[in-house]
Amino acid sequence: MAREIPFNSDRKTEGDASAELRQLLLDQMGDLLHAENQLVKALPKMVKAAHSPTLRRGFSEHLEQTRGHVQRLQEAFELLGAKAKAIPCPGMKGLVEEGSETISDGKEMPEACADLALIIAAQKVEHYEISGYGSLRTLADRLGESRVARLLADNQAEEEQADELLTQAAQPLFEQAA
Ligand SMILES: [Fe+2]
Ligand SMILES: [Fe+2]
Repeated sequence: MAREIPFNSDRKTEGDASAELRQLLLDQMGDLLHAENQLVKALPKMVKAAHSPTLRRGFSEHLEQTRGHVQRLQEAFELLGAKAKAIPCPGMKGLVEEGSETISDGKEMPEACADLALIIAAQKVEHYEISGYGSLRTLADRLGESRVARLLADNQAEEEQADELLTQAAQPLFEQAA
């Protein structure tokens, strides 16, 4: 059986590896910061497009939470002694573009269908964020940055909650659309 080779076993010392992991964490936090900033701009359009009052309220509450996510990320940068730097996130850009298309396509659809389409677009966004925060909190943990890991976990928990609320908001819409 092959012996497990420790990560980065050759060439580099442990110090280098952890500096690189730290940089990876900062870069990925920058990606999420950019993603969250894009959502602060996109969510008001989702609020406006939603027909169901529950969905509209859900989007607008998540807009507030999203502003909090930006703040927590900024705090996490501070804890790491780094400047908060957003790095363009093409992944979220694509999802936001899909969301915009969903909004315009929805104008031609029955209200419940249009709302369900918004939920589908929004859940893709939440899952992107959940996976981002999930990976990064583990990375922060491994680096011994427990306070940073906590902040990332708090964001992740709110994304999960938003995802769950979207699932719930879809239920009556399925009945209306049927
Ligand atoms: Fe977020
Ligand atoms: Fe979110």
